[in-house]
Amino acid sequence: MAKVYGEFFLENGSKVVLRSPRWEDLDDLTKLINSLVEEGAPITMDRIITREEEAEWLAGRLSNIEKGRTIMVVAEVNGKVVGNSEINRLGGHQSHVGLLGIIVAREYRDRGIGTRMLETLIEEARKAGLKLLILDVLSTNTRARHVYEKIGFREAGVVPKMAHTREGYDDVIRMYLEL
Ligand SMILES: CC(C)(COP(=O)(O)OP(=O)(O)OC[C@H]1O[C@@H](n2cnc3c(N)ncnc32)[C@H](O)[C@@H]1OP(=O)(O)O)[C@@H](O)C(=O)NCCC(=O)NCCS
Repeated sequence: MAKVYGEFFLENGSKVVLRSPRWEDLDDLTKLINSLVEEGAPITMDRIITREEEAEWLAGRLSNIEKGRTIMVVAEVNGKVVGNSEINRLGGHQSHVGLLGIIVAREYRDRGIGTRMLETLIEEARKAGLKLLILDVLSTNTRARHVYEKIGFREAGVVPKMAHTREGYDDVIRMYLEL
C-alpha cells in the first residue's frame, strides 16, 4: 500500500496525489524518465532506459525505502505518475546526509508540483532524522535553481565543466540545506 503524503488541486481542477511509489508504477516511471531523456532535460541520465533496467532500479529503491535508506515521493495526476523525487541517505560518516533528485514531466512543470514534492521530501527527511540535504544542479538550469533557492537551499560551490550536455560543457553547482 502506498503512503499518501498529501493532495492538492491544479488550476485546471486536476487532483495531484503525492505518495510513496509502488511496483505498479514501473511503466509510468519508465515513460517519465525516458521522456526527460528524449527532451534532453538537464539531468544526469542521457540514454533511454529499458523496462528491465527500470525494474531493477525500482526494486532496489523499494527495498531501500523499507530499510530507511531512501525516501521517495511521486506525484500522480489522473492515475498517472507525472513526477518523481527522492532522497538517498549516504553512508559511513555521512549517514546524516541525503542526496536529493527530482523530475517532473514537461507538460506538468510550472504548476507548483515540484515545490510541493520538495516540501514533502524535506518534511519526511526531517522525520527520518537526516540533518543535511545536498544536490547537484547544472548552472544553466535556472528553473531548478530558482525552486531550490526558494525552498531554502544555498550554493556551496561550483565545479566548472562537470557536465557535458547536447549544448556542450556546463558547470555543476552543489547546493545544500541544513535541516
Ligand atoms: C526543476 C523541476 C523539478 C521543478 O518542478 P516544477 O513543478 O516545474 O516547479 P514549480 O512549478 O513548483 O516551480 C517552478 C518555479 O520556477 C519558476 N521558473 C520557471 N522557469 C524559470 C526559469 N527559466 N528561470 C527561473 N525560474 C523559472 C516558476 O516561475 C516557478 O517559480 P515560483 O514558484 O516562484 O512561482 C521541474 O521543472 C523539472 O523536472 N525540470 C526538468 C528536470 C530537472 O531540471 N530536474 C532537476 C535537476 S537538478
